[in-house]
Amino acid sequence: MTQASANINIMIKAARKAARGLLRDFGEVENLQVSAKGPGDFVSRADLKSEETIRAELMEARPNYGWLGEESREAKGADPTRRWIVDPLDGTTNFLHGLPHWAVSIALEHKGEIVAGVIYDPVKDEMFVAEKGAGAWLNDRRLRVSGRREMIAMLFATGVPFAGNPTLPQSLREIAALNPQTSGIRRWGAAALDLAYVAAGRFDGFWERGIHPWDMAAGCLLVREAGGFVGPLDEGAGIFETGSVVAANANIFETLTRTLRSV
Ligand code: IPD
Repeated sequence: MTQASANINIMIKAARKAARGLLRDFGEVENLQVSAKGPGDFVSRADLKSEETIRAELMEARPNYGWLGEESREAKGADPTRRWIVDPLDGTTNFLHGLPHWAVSIALEHKGEIVAGVIYDPVKDEMFVAEKGAGAWLNDRRLRVSGRREMIAMLFATGVPFAGNPTLPQSLREIAALNPQTSGIRRWGAAALDLAYVAAGRFDGFWERGIHPWDMAAGCLLVREAGGFVGPLDEGAGIFETGSVVAANANIFETLTRTLRSV
């Protein structure tokens, strides 16, 4: 990013600091103390430490802002218009299985709108950054969504529900409907990175249901700032309210949304 704002610099610093701890823990993943959070969804000690690190950094720099984090949930700030939305470890299942595809995601919301976002993948040392009106960046490179037009040439990503989630049949129907019309569909297990990859033109689109604001807040800004479109997959309300999201390059967004909604 050419001219990063003070908030972006704070977010990058917090993400890097948390990532150093996560990388160390990733190196000895078999020794981590793991506690069950719910069916199929585990929180590691590393996850909790990462959130504490990020929270301490952000709160020291901006003590008035509110907070919404995956592990410690919500805290109102003295400034009710601003809050951090943080996933300290997106791709937890990958992390626990030793798969090198996970990230830290930090977003800043102002008056209900995401205005800054940072997603850091420390294994690949990829820092995705976006600020409203200032574009989306990967390290020092400006990002644009892909320019593909034909769905048959496109590569999509999604999330597949697990652990008895009742939306699994719907998800499988969507994949079955879309797959024959595309170049392929990936399930890489980190929604924040899926969205960052749409912003980077690596994926042409992404959709998922049942995800949380911390999974998608920073990623959605990245897609928009890279020239892509983002909206709710389930009609009627916004992405945070429905927990459903579809993101894609501008050429295919409507067709993708329509196709998925018709399944
Ligand atoms: C999960 C990942 C996964 C997505 C799940 C999320 P977490 O986040 O982003 O790709 O399919 O819906 O909950 O639990 O690893 O932070």
